[in-house]
Amino acid sequence: MSNLAVNTAARPLGATGLVVSRIGLGLAALGRPGYINLGHGRDLAGARSVEALEARTFAVLDEAWRRGVRYFDAARSYGRAESFLAHWLARRGIVPDDVVVGSKWGYTYTAQWQVEAEVHEVKEHTVAVFERQWRESRERLGDHLDLYQIHSVTADGSVLHDQRLLAAIAQRKREGVRVGLTTSGPDQAAAIGRALDVELDGRRLFDSVQATWNLLERSAAPALAAAHAAGVGVIVKEALANGRLTDRNTDAGFTEQRARLQQQAQRLGITVDALALAAIVAQPWADVVLSGAATSEQLRSNTAALTWDDEAAARLAPLVEAPVAYWRRRAALAWT
Ligand SMILES: NC(=O)c1ccc[n+]([C@@H]2O[C@H](COP(=O)([O-])OP(=O)(O)OC[C@H]3O[C@@H](n4cnc5c(N)ncnc54)[C@H](OP(=O)(O)O)[C@@H]3O)[C@@H](O)[C@H]2O)c1
Repeated sequence: MSNLAVNTAARPLGATGLVVSRIGLGLAALGRPGYINLGHGRDLAGARSVEALEARTFAVLDEAWRRGVRYFDAARSYGRAESFLAHWLARRGIVPDDVVVGSKWGYTYTAQWQVEAEVHEVKEHTVAVFERQWRESRERLGDHLDLYQIHSVTADGSVLHDQRLLAAIAQRKREGVRVGLTTSGPDQAAAIGRALDVELDGRRLFDSVQATWNLLERSAAPALAAAHAAGVGVIVKEALANGRLTDRNTDAGFTEQRARLQQQAQRLGITVDALALAAIVAQPWADVVLSGAATSEQLRSNTAALTWDDEAAARLAPLVEAPVAYWRRRAALAWT
């Protein structure tokens, strides 16, 4: 493989019947004033009113649409992300057939529009929370809601064994929405493996999986390849390791890694963040790779000239971190 622009043509999201752009946009950094990505506080530069954040979200969504992004990812816990997205879809006259929208349930937003809230979100994977958040998501997104995911399943959680809950999810699936899950933590591969085994009505329950995979944390790859082979749609999140795989990461402990990334980005004539995204788009099992851009400039930089080759793969292989260490670092990120 020599200098290769990765294939960004739209493709099916597994066997869901949905067709997705290879780059999607996640709204975690857009729907609320506080988030854990490295420079979130600086990005917002004091403009944290609901109106300012909605205007910023519209600008990033417009830029994404212009650049061919047709998958958008929200969650009940991303502040007003679902409402901002719904308002934008209505304002731009975008009909459900022209876009794929996923959202998530399982965390309740509790920060009340504060950056320094004591508790930003509360996790609860129960039937009661599922039914309440399903109604809330439907109320906001209406027929645009294509995919409803359990937010952040971990290998040690009990959610995949809760038969009442799985039956409630299956009921929504019968009514026409696709259902999926997202995973977090050092044992994502185990959680994904378990999810692939869940069957109801004699059929696999989950239509998609959304997991973290990036140049630093690659442990989920075999499980994601298995999911893809089984016809389960694969969405990749945290492609930039929450901003660690961008020029913004000036951590002294990352000096050698940064130099390697910059060397490869320069050789290919692209930005470090586009290089990190291209590394994932180049994986045959990845259907959609999420950009978490908080500004239009970041979105432009993320999607500029996605290029990847064997030399980049070889030179960047040493960046991989032990999953437990990676997730410990992620857990220590501050809300800004
Ligand atoms: N459990 C889950 O289900 C889960 C968890 C996490 C994310 N997600 C989904 O995945 C999406 C993406 O995840 P993410 O935002 O956490 O991860 P990410 O893509 O790894 O990081 C995105 C962040 O990187 C920084 N960045 C991007 N481009 C940059 C550039 N050119 N220069 C400097 N900094 C740049 C920005 O942060 P700053 O500007 O703030 O530094 C941006 O917010 C989310 O929006 C959400 O939809 C799901």
